[in-house]
Amino acid sequence: MSSPKRTKIEQEDVLDLTLRPRTWDDYIGQDKIKQNVRIIIDAAKQRNEPSVEHILFYGNPGLGKTTLARLVAEEIGVDFRVTSGPAIERAGDLAAILTNLSDGSVLFIDECHRLNRTVEEYLYPALEDFKLNLILGKGPMARTMELKVPRFTLIGATTRLAAVSGPLRSRFGAIFGLNFYDTNDIVKILARSARLLNVAISHEALDVLAKSSRYTPRVANHLLKRVRDFAQVQSQEGITAEITRYALDNLEIDPLGLGSNDRRILEALIDKFNGGPAGIQALAAATAEEEETILDVYEPYLMRLGFIARTPRGRIATRLGFEHLNKKTPRGAIL
Ligand code: ADE
Repeated sequence: MSSPKRTKIEQEDVLDLTLRPRTWDDYIGQDKIKQNVRIIIDAAKQRNEPSVEHILFYGNPGLGKTTLARLVAEEIGVDFRVTSGPAIERAGDLAAILTNLSDGSVLFIDECHRLNRTVEEYLYPALEDFKLNLILGKGPMARTMELKVPRFTLIGATTRLAAVSGPLRSRFGAIFGLNFYDTNDIVKILARSARLLNVAISHEALDVLAKSSRYTPRVANHLLKRVRDFAQVQSQEGITAEITRYALDNLEIDPLGLGSNDRRILEALIDKFNGGPAGIQALAAATAEEEETILDVYEPYLMRLGFIARTPRGRIATRLGFEHLNKKTPRGAIL
């Protein structure tokens, strides 16, 4: 009898778990953040404090916010519980999560800019004094009940620091922004992942992949898996630069890592708005994309490449952006 087959999604999950760094040494890059976070933990340990200050990580998707939070919990030696802003719909959901924590646990709230404001109000006393003030009943019969919750450390993550409410932001003892990785670090991450996936890969292939990885570990690992599929189907022993280029070409990913959607955004800005300036709403409508996706996924990388820039009047395509799409650059376009 063969073992039950895993679905594609479950296989991906298993792979992601396999590739996730398990120790600080495995976690490549973001050196300043690692150093500062470890000081916070060591200092709290030296003072014998039962929990560490609440920490907020912000940065683009796929840069390793969850992984960092997991490492913090591991370093302190406590439980790691995961939830997300939109998953906590009502105060009751929050109460269920908090009362089920153990002492010292790390509670990770992803997308914490999407917590609803009522839930946030309940969260504040829990963050400050480890208590919840629940309201039982309605109208004149309503009573408040104070409920103690275990001491815990909140680690929040967000792709949009500016969208986290002021009161919530001020409850974090430390706030760290994750940056895009440099290409050398992406090469190291890819080399480690290839080792874990047990697949040989040439130096040149690592280089080609790294340049298409949007300076983002999650993208790098996904591309590595896709390229491995191509190599396997073509019965190649390992991953060469040639098969990597062939795979990226088939996936419509260009040598700088732009996919068809990124190009569509840049193209719309150039063709439909004459290079801009265009507001985010107009750009979203013209490309049938969600504003949020443009803000979180496409725009940061296009800006990192210097293909678009933000001005007070909206986004504009730069000379580099025009050139990348082989469009005639208008006079006066900025570099
Ligand atoms: N996977 C995701 N983020 C990583 C990192 N910073 N180092 C190594 N592997 C990673």
